[in-house]
Amino acid sequence: MKVTVSRRAHFNAAHRLYRPDWDDVKNNEVFGKCNNPNYHGHNYELIVSVKGPIDPETGYVMDVKILKDLIRSEVEDAFDHKNLNLDVPEFKNLNPTAENIVVVIWNKLRKHISTTLELEVVLYETPRNFVKYTGE
Ligand code: NI
Repeated sequence: MKVTVSRRAHFNAAHRLYRPDWDDVKNNEVFGKCNNPNYHGHNYELIVSVKGPIDPETGYVMDVKILKDLIRSEVEDAFDHKNLNLDVPEFKNLNPTAENIVVVIWNKLRKHISTTLELEVVLYETPRNFVKYTGE
């Protein structure tokens, strides 16, 4: 028997999608408004889920307080009110698309979560656009 425990969080951040090795025409063609040189912001929402057996002693899959603190230190403190391109080392040479952001978040959290638990991260860039990564 496995149960999924989820925690919702959010951060506000700015980004710009572009490739320095492409010219302006190509960057505009592929990334459109997201290529705005002066950056733009999103209210990112994320749902972090861990799935695993219930510990018979505690009755928990994972203590949600621990998960909450982990999301705060690894995601919120690192990304909130930041310019992802300029302030976050992981995106120095990586385009901060929703796809790449969700993989970075998953990798940061994975290191701190028991290997007996499966981890899934869903990241909303807008209320209608979201991506999911499970480590596959
Ligand atoms: Ni954007």
